[in-house]
Amino acid sequence: MVEKKGLLYEGKAKKLYQTDEKDVLWVEYLNQATALNGAKKDQIQGKGELNNQITSIIFEKLSEKGIKHHFIKQLSPTEQLIQQINMIPLEVVLRNVAAGSFSKRLGVPEGTELAFPIVEFYFKEDALDDPFINDDHVLVLDIANKEEIEFLKAEAKKINQALIEIFTEAGIRLIDFKLEFGRLADGTIILGDEISPDTCRLWDLLTNDHLDKDIYRRDLGDIVPVYQEVLDRLTKIA
Ligand SMILES: Nc1ncnc2c1ncn2[C@@H]1O[C@H](COP(=O)(O)OP(=O)(O)OP(=O)(O)O)[C@@H](O)[C@H]1O
Ligand SMILES: [Mg+2]
Repeated sequence: MVEKKGLLYEGKAKKLYQTDEKDVLWVEYLNQATALNGAKKDQIQGKGELNNQITSIIFEKLSEKGIKHHFIKQLSPTEQLIQQINMIPLEVVLRNVAAGSFSKRLGVPEGTELAFPIVEFYFKEDALDDPFINDDHVLVLDIANKEEIEFLKAEAKKINQALIEIFTEAGIRLIDFKLEFGRLADGTIILGDEISPDTCRLWDLLTNDHLDKDIYRRDLGDIVPVYQEVLDRLTKIA
């Protein structure tokens, strides 16, 4: 049994602890919800539990589909073990359907199906509000090299296909999502962080109702029953 050690990092959604095993971290999912880069913040009872369970199911499903990632196992309703990786400071966003900042910036109505899935990079730097950057920025900032950029794009598209299969089976339309990757000691890049209604736009396949954090961002109601609905649907197909 792995033993929990000292706190390594407290983020907005999770706490990371060291363990007695090298490169293995103990993650606790928090009840905190934030939006607008932390300007909007609330404690929402039950949220940590829901995201931990949803993420755990999705990572297990991704394993079945041959995707490499950091998830080791779920420990409790709010905790999991992960492999420590050296995080690449990028938010890798994949979009299947226009929504959010894409719609706002480019004037494409929300819900417009894109001709093909697109990948975007955002520099993960809270002090700068996570700015949108291009491949040259990634290179010049020394965030990743050319081969790694190509790998990140290809891997994000592969993960997209796998997630579309998973969510479609659960009656959910995958609009867009954010991924974070990191490097193992030997330089291999694997998927990290979380995949949950906090990090994906999920719409009901039939009604297009929001089943994600836009409920919170846009003050559309209580996220708990909505995240519970996502968990229930994933549990049914797990
Ligand atoms: N396998 C991993 N190894 C090391 N760090 C990880 C791993 N997976 C995720 N992380 C990092 O854990 C941190 C905590 O997650 P959380 O989602 O709470 O942070 P955040 O508030 O979104 O981001 P940040 O505080 O970094 O701006 C994030 O910085 C994330 O990049
Ligand atoms: Mg986060």
